[in-house]
Amino acid sequence: MAFVHLDVVRFYTLLICAVFSSVSSNAEIKVNPPQDFEIVDPGYLGYLCLQWQPPLSLENFEECTVEYELKYRNIDSEDWKTIITKNLHYKDGFDLNKGIEAKIHTLLPPHCTNGSKVQSLWSEATYWIAPQGNQETKIQEMDCVYYNWQYLYCSWKPGMGVHFNTSYQLFYWYDGLDHATQCAEYIQVDGQNIGCRFPYLEASDYKDFYICVNGSSDSDPVRPSYFIFQLQNIVKPLPPDYLIITVKNSEEVNLKWATPNGPIPAKCFIYEIEFTEDDTTWVTTTVENELHTTRISNKSQQLCFSVRSKVNIYCSDDGIWSEWSGKQCWKGLLWRKRSLLSSGHILLTQ
Ligand SMILES: *[C@@H]1O[C@H](CO)[C@@H](O)[C@H](O)[C@H]1NC(C)=O
Ligand SMILES: *[C@@H]1O[C@H](CO)[C@@H](O)[C@H](O)[C@H]1NC(C)=O
Ligand SMILES: *[C@@H]1O[C@H](CO)[C@@H](O)[C@H](O)[C@H]1NC(C)=O
Ligand SMILES: *[C@@H]1O[C@H](CO)[C@@H](O)[C@H](O)[C@H]1NC(C)=O
Repeated sequence: MAFVHLDVVRFYTLLICAVFSSVSSNAEIKVNPPQDFEIVDPGYLGYLCLQWQPPLSLENFEECTVEYELKYRNIDSEDWKTIITKNLHYKDGFDLNKGIEAKIHTLLPPHCTNGSKVQSLWSEATYWIAPQGNQETKIQEMDCVYYNWQYLYCSWKPGMGVHFNTSYQLFYWYDGLDHATQCAEYIQVDGQNIGCRFPYLEASDYKDFYICVNGSSDSDPVRPSYFIFQLQNIVKPLPPDYLIITVKNSEEVNLKWATPNGPIPAKCFIYEIEFTEDDTTWVTTTVENELHTTRISNKSQQLCFSVRSKVNIYCSDDGIWSEWSGKQCWKGLLWRKRSLLSSGHILLTQ
């Protein structure tokens, strides 16, 4: 027993020594945090630049490529975004309705430090646009639709209880514009701006689109509102047209329609079809511009369908359904006989 106990004591002593020696050898390698870490707002309505300078006393690690681990988030969000980079800046889009916080530390790769990963303390930075005006002066119910992937239109309602002479202005920016640009064609009601009709937006798809609606009034400052979205995700196409319905061998039904006119490629559509056979209605979707089906009963007298379109998941993350097309119908034999009879009747009475 005594031997075993002694061995255990010796084992722990060895272990403690080992731990201490590794700590002390690691403690010799230290690196400073990056310097002058800051969040810079170039005036692009949410597209910010995080930038920093190399840490002091890097000369001990001349052979090493220093890396930086950068973490950032909007202040009330749960998750940090993490980036590892060798550069001295990083750019991303942020929601300027909220504050932004970021932190960064220097990393020394293991081959520079005898196998252990060495990191500095964090440098921290925050950014927020000092809030002006009260919450009630913000615009409400902002709604933006990119009609047929061609015409962007945004509309809003004035803030609650703002004076009638409060005037709102819309600014927008995306990568490709030199600077934030003001709306050139406002939609107005009683002289107050309540929307914007955008000009042609060259090369604006699949990138963040930033909007700020701010304003001014005689009495109170107006709280600005910021929005970020991607245009391909708010497309509302035109409804399909040239609907054709044909019935073959008394029960095979073929529905066909034309792809909506405009710049949206045919492969980007999904269609929803509403089909009515006498009193029965069903709805289905397809990515083709035709659909084969069969009649429930070959005695049914009226088959009708209409279609609407949306941009599909192969071309965007989201979209808005078009209006429904007009209805196209096929009418059964019995119906045709009846209508012939009734038109004959009309002829007789004339
Ligand atoms: C790595 O270990 C060697 C040998 O133990 C030592 O001479 C050298 O100074 C150590 N390097 C660093 C960066 O601590
Ligand atoms: C704006 O509205 C406020 C409150 O109704 C009024 O006191 C002020 O004179 C108006 N200003 C102008 C320029 O019409
Ligand atoms: C609204 O925002 C634009 C773009 O950032 C800015 O140039 C303008 O001065 C702002 N207007 C007001 C009244 O704050
Ligand atoms: C109609 O359907 C019935 C049974 O489903 C079938 O026996 C009959 O031949 C069909 N009529 C025509 C004209 O195809």
